[in-house]
Amino acid sequence: MANKKDNRSLGKLTPAINVDDVRLLAQRRLPKFIFDYLDGGADDEYTRRENPDSFRALSLIQRVLIDVGNIDTSTTILGMPTSVPFILSSTGASRFYHSDGELAVARAAAQSNVIYGTTSSAMYSLEDVAAVAPSPRFFQVYVFKDREVTREIISRCKASNYDAMFLTVDCSTAGNRERDIRNQLSIPPKITPRILWQLLNAMPWTIDYLTHSKWRFPNIEEYVDNSTMGDFDSAAEWFADQLDTSFTWEDAAALRSDWGGQFVIKGITSVEDAKLAAEIGATGIVVSNHGGRQLDHAPTTLEVLPEIIEAVGDRLEVLVDSGYRRGTDIIKALALGAKGVLLGKAYLYGLGAGGEAGVTRVVDILRGELERDMTLLGLTSIDQITSDCVRWRDPRFLR
Ligand SMILES: Cc1cc2nc3c(=O)[nH]c(=O)nc-3n(C[C@H](O)[C@H](O)[C@H](O)COP(=O)(O)O)c2cc1C
Repeated sequence: MANKKDNRSLGKLTPAINVDDVRLLAQRRLPKFIFDYLDGGADDEYTRRENPDSFRALSLIQRVLIDVGNIDTSTTILGMPTSVPFILSSTGASRFYHSDGELAVARAAAQSNVIYGTTSSAMYSLEDVAAVAPSPRFFQVYVFKDREVTREIISRCKASNYDAMFLTVDCSTAGNRERDIRNQLSIPPKITPRILWQLLNAMPWTIDYLTHSKWRFPNIEEYVDNSTMGDFDSAAEWFADQLDTSFTWEDAAALRSDWGGQFVIKGITSVEDAKLAAEIGATGIVVSNHGGRQLDHAPTTLEVLPEIIEAVGDRLEVLVDSGYRRGTDIIKALALGAKGVLLGKAYLYGLGAGGEAGVTRVVDILRGELERDMTLLGLTSIDQITSDCVRWRDPRFLR
């Protein structure tokens, strides 16, 4: 339930009628170094910009004079029920945006009957998130140098009844996020005159930060040395230092059998890797360029989705993310054969703008768009979204 404080921020959310509006509200509430971490991409941010722009390449084909009195947006993802074909993806360090962090996201998701996936790099423990998030619950692992960490996390997830394990594979090192380097992003923030100025210009956020317990990474802090953070110039450098760069497909296969349940490889952009994921017995993949935060000039997901679905669509479930912020974007991915869409920045803008109420607002906005778009397209259920609903736009009309 949104508390009194969140209801006040809900008032501030009133003018937000789409995800881009919520983004602007987040930009207003968050100090610049935090907003940049949320919003930024790698290198020149080419892929980060192309992601939302890529949807222009597909047109939607409308069918009319159909009874669209009852629209049902519910579906299943990895066999689990959800009220919408999108899930709130794993994004680390969510207390950056609001002191309630992952708990706010989990509560908003549960209230809206939407699936949320927390992560190894969360700022609330997987047990605390499980306590507020009814099933289905998803978890995402990174593989740290100490392999024991991953094994431990897997058994903790089993004990807390998580339903699906996502292994993120596009982070063999941290992406080159130049906004963060310029901002000297560190945990906790180093108070330079510039950062102090940003904090003073974001007083509601700063008060929230100062009046709550200090930032921690409870899923991993027993195993990785948090105290070494100050030895690195940035949080990204610290994170990169912890990651296991020697992890291979064989190790992924072992992890899959260790887990034993729904196992999804997140961060696939090539047909060859999609086939390898199917070969090791993954039950799903996420076609993803990590929102443009890792390898700049990675393809947008719409570019590669059709060939990946063609190659492995009959062997595992194909999910997709990166740049989705409109109901029409989600419909286009489903029309190309994806079973569901993961959201990253879209719901984090909500968290940054207004905590739990902000996340709920983003879910409501997207659900509303989806319903309206399906109505206009003459579609009453998610399974009616097929390749007949889209066509590639004639390049002569693409600006
Ligand atoms: C601030 C931020 C933190 C993220 N942290 C993680 C993470 O810890 N693990 C992970 O697998 N993906 C992480 N991601 C990637 C998202 O799960 C998702 O793949 C991506 O955000 C989708 O693109 P979008 O932001 O354009 O929706 C993060 C994304 C953002 C924006």
